[in-house]
Amino acid sequence: MTRPLLAEIDLAALRHNYRLAQARAPVSQAMAVLKANAYGHGAVACAQALEDLAPAFAVACLEEAMELREAGITTPILLLEGIFDASELEYVDTLGLWMTVHSQWQVDALFAYRPTTPIPVWLKVDSGMHRLGFPPREAEGLWHKLQADRGRVSELYLMSHFATADALDSQQFRQQLTLLQGLAKRLDAPTCLANSPATLAWPETHGDWNRPGIMLYGSDPLEGANDASRRLRPVMTLRSRIIALQDVAAGEPVGYGGRWRASRRSRIAVVACGYGDGYDRHARDGTPVLVDGQRASLAGRVSMDMLTVDVSDVPGAAIGSEVVLWGRAAGGEVLSVDEVARHCETISYTLLTGMLPRVPRRYHDDEVAGD
Ligand SMILES: Cc1ncc(COP(=O)(O)O)c(C=O)c1O
Repeated sequence: MTRPLLAEIDLAALRHNYRLAQARAPVSQAMAVLKANAYGHGAVACAQALEDLAPAFAVACLEEAMELREAGITTPILLLEGIFDASELEYVDTLGLWMTVHSQWQVDALFAYRPTTPIPVWLKVDSGMHRLGFPPREAEGLWHKLQADRGRVSELYLMSHFATADALDSQQFRQQLTLLQGLAKRLDAPTCLANSPATLAWPETHGDWNRPGIMLYGSDPLEGANDASRRLRPVMTLRSRIIALQDVAAGEPVGYGGRWRASRRSRIAVVACGYGDGYDRHARDGTPVLVDGQRASLAGRVSMDMLTVDVSDVPGAAIGSEVVLWGRAAGGEVLSVDEVARHCETISYTLLTGMLPRVPRRYHDDEVAGD
């Protein structure tokens, strides 16, 4: 490997964050969400790192579950969107997967199928997000039907998803929660409701199971950080190096479209990382990066394989200097992916899941004392 860009994945940090999710919700079991290639971190490696800790994993679809099974992962895996076609039920059955049902056709397919062993089923109710799930009244009827079919359904859980659990104060969140609490009480149903923000900030959502995702990767999903979210550790460090330096006169433009113009004589570092790697082309001038651990700013549009940084105030910057696009620098300085995302007018989820296969992942697993 010659190009210096890589995504370093800190598996000890992943486990630390998982333990934090557990500690935050001691009454619940935490299902580690590993969909979208573990939010870009590598699903198999993350599953292997969490195997001893997590009682279950969650993925979006059968193909993602198969990848884990083919790698020898035996932990139960929930399909968050259930099946996409009735033919998948055979695999759900033989691979020992857990299944969400959010639509009538999925329930019909299940009732038309005879599994070799009954399947744990997660009945998804639409409590107000209006994405997936049954309206509450329909869910009540289905709950009883599914519960009665012990030949097909081994365990049954009430599942829902919050649209605004990350907000400091959200009426929609409170409405969803009230509805779900009432429904769970009437059905005497075990629940699975909390995503990362709810796990971190809303103990009243904690059910028999929670489904933390983004927090496992060290990104803080809360609108306002709390004590727990401040203890999250970044898992991915996107690390590269300076490959060229340019001295530009005041008034000179840099990069495509000449978006950035030097307001003084400036030193521009060219870094091996671009949108062809998954770094967001919408990153604004001023987006922070760490050069040898010191903050510097993006200057000019991101190109496919490179980006440019104003290092006028980083006197030691040289060809070969370390550049951290997000994550932890060699000296320990941290640049959060959340901060970078804000400069790109996006969220950490898109930056992390957007890391392309071209970027080599390098895993390390150094437990920190006292962790
Ligand atoms: C159904 C479901 N549960 C849990 C999660 C995890 O959410 P988060 O990454 O915010 O913790 C997601 C993520 O999109 C989801 O779609």
